[in-house]
Amino acid sequence: MTKKRIYLAPMVGRTDQHFRSFIRILSKNIHLYTEMITCDAFLHTGRSEYKINNYEHPITIQLAGFDPKKFMQCSKIIEEQGFNEININIGCPSNKVIKGQFGACLMNHPEHVAEIVTEIKNSCSLPVSIKTRLGLDYDENLDLLKDFIYKTSNAGCTRFFLHARNAILKGISTKKNRNIPALRYDDAFKIKTEFPHLSIILNGGITTMDEIINYSDLFDGVMIGRKIYDDPMFLLNIENKIFNSSLIYDKRIILKKYLEYALTQINLGANKYFLFKHLFGLYYKTDFSKKWKKFLNMIIREEINILRMPFFEEMIYEKKI
Ligand SMILES: Cc1cc2nc3c(=O)[nH]c(=O)nc-3n(C[C@H](O)[C@H](O)[C@H](O)COP(=O)(O)O)c2cc1C
Repeated sequence: MTKKRIYLAPMVGRTDQHFRSFIRILSKNIHLYTEMITCDAFLHTGRSEYKINNYEHPITIQLAGFDPKKFMQCSKIIEEQGFNEININIGCPSNKVIKGQFGACLMNHPEHVAEIVTEIKNSCSLPVSIKTRLGLDYDENLDLLKDFIYKTSNAGCTRFFLHARNAILKGISTKKNRNIPALRYDDAFKIKTEFPHLSIILNGGITTMDEIINYSDLFDGVMIGRKIYDDPMFLLNIENKIFNSSLIYDKRIILKKYLEYALTQINLGANKYFLFKHLFGLYYKTDFSKKWKKFLNMIIREEINILRMPFFEEMIYEKKI
């Protein structure tokens, strides 16, 4: 049986180093992603801010930008930093991104994206992938995407992540663009059939084990974003059912491990909000969820001192919140 590939979707404000460290406690096998970072921002701060920890592998960095030469400059540093793959964002429909002429609007410029792929391939030995949409605005014809994949794969991109809906470039917010227009898994599968030699990963709206099992068979893997962020314990299901791990479902162990990480980070000056906001979903849809969130907010506002570990443990384990 070939190993199924499950990817954490890149999410700005979410898939930062703290969240990835939390995720690694829950899953050894899921492939991690950074948040999207523009080439300019990476070249400005990347070397220091985009250090990865050994335990984060396998991990892909997602870059966004327009200038192929800047991708080339970033790629060299990214390889030195130890990332496993470089992903190009061709799916983001935000106004800011469109203004910078990158993200989803580059679906209209496959030759230009092919040039970006070539520059990356020429400057490092890392695999290059692209995350994109099925098309633009309300046009459901797949020819634009087919031509895009044909040209960029000829330049050396071998893996495509398909957020299985179009990107609407005008008139709706980035947030709404994650829920509308409708998902079209059948059309995504047509792309897999058309390009059987390429790795095609399905993304968008996947929330159940049945979907993961079904679609990771039909495609070369699945990518999951919001479900994992909202309900991180779901990852233990994925580990046990997809990767045959035998992990224990004990939140105490998970929390203890994360606290060890958090304390080290606090000593390095990390902000408690950024450290603990990722834990809000730990008790997702349980009776304890509301109290848990209240408790985390008290930590964030420093009304509880988490440096007093025994106190923290007592509060959690005996649920005295
Ligand atoms: C808060 C948030 C931030 C996101 N940031 C990015 C990003 O940086 N790059 C990207 O390609 N997609 C981004 N996305 C889109 C996700 O990667 C994914 O394609 C989308 O949420 C659909 O998958 P899901 O239904 O499993 O969440 C973001 C989504 C959310 C909810």
